[in-house]
Amino acid sequence: MTDPYKKENQEIKSILFVCLGNICRSPLAEAIAKEMATKYSLTMECESAGTGSWHVGEAPCENSQIVASNNNKDISHYTARQVTQNDFKKFDIIVGLDKSNIDNLKKMGCKDPVLLGSFGYNGEDVPDPYFFDGYEGFDKVYNMIQFCIDNLFKRKILN
Ligand code: 4NP
Repeated sequence: MTDPYKKENQEIKSILFVCLGNICRSPLAEAIAKEMATKYSLTMECESAGTGSWHVGEAPCENSQIVASNNNKDISHYTARQVTQNDFKKFDIIVGLDKSNIDNLKKMGCKDPVLLGSFGYNGEDVPDPYFFDGYEGFDKVYNMIQFCIDNLFKRKILN
C-alpha cells in the first residue's frame, strides 16, 4: 500500500472517498471527513464517488441516512456519482473503502489509491452494508469509518 504522505512537504487539501455504489459507505465518509476538517480547522475538500454507475443521481441508502442522522449529520441531499478520470488528477488522495474498490480504482487508472482500513483497522475492509439485514451493522460501519478518518486526519496534522 502506498503511503499517502509520501509527498512529504506537500499539503493534502482534497480527499475523494470511493466505494462501489456511492450510496452506503462513501457518503458517510464524506460527511464525517467534512465535519472532522472543521473540527481540526483544516481546509480540506472532501467528496465521495462510486466505481459503479448503477445508483448515479440517487440519494444515500435509507440506513446510511439514519446512522448519519443518529450522529447529527444530514446526508439526505447528497447524490451519488461515478468516479471520473479527472478525479485522479484533481484529488490529492483517493481513499477506497475496501480492497475491491482499490482494485477497481487501479483498473480505472488511479495510480495510488489508499485503503481506509489501513488507518487503524489493520488493513481491514469497511464491510459493504448493501446486503446487510436491515439496519444491523450500520453502526459498526459508521464507527469504523469515523475511527479511520480521525487517524488519517491526525496524522496529517502531525506532518
Ligand atoms: P456502497 O454499497 O458501495 O457502500 O455504496 C453498495 C451499493 C450498491 C451496490 C453495492 C454496494 N450494488 O450492487 O448496487
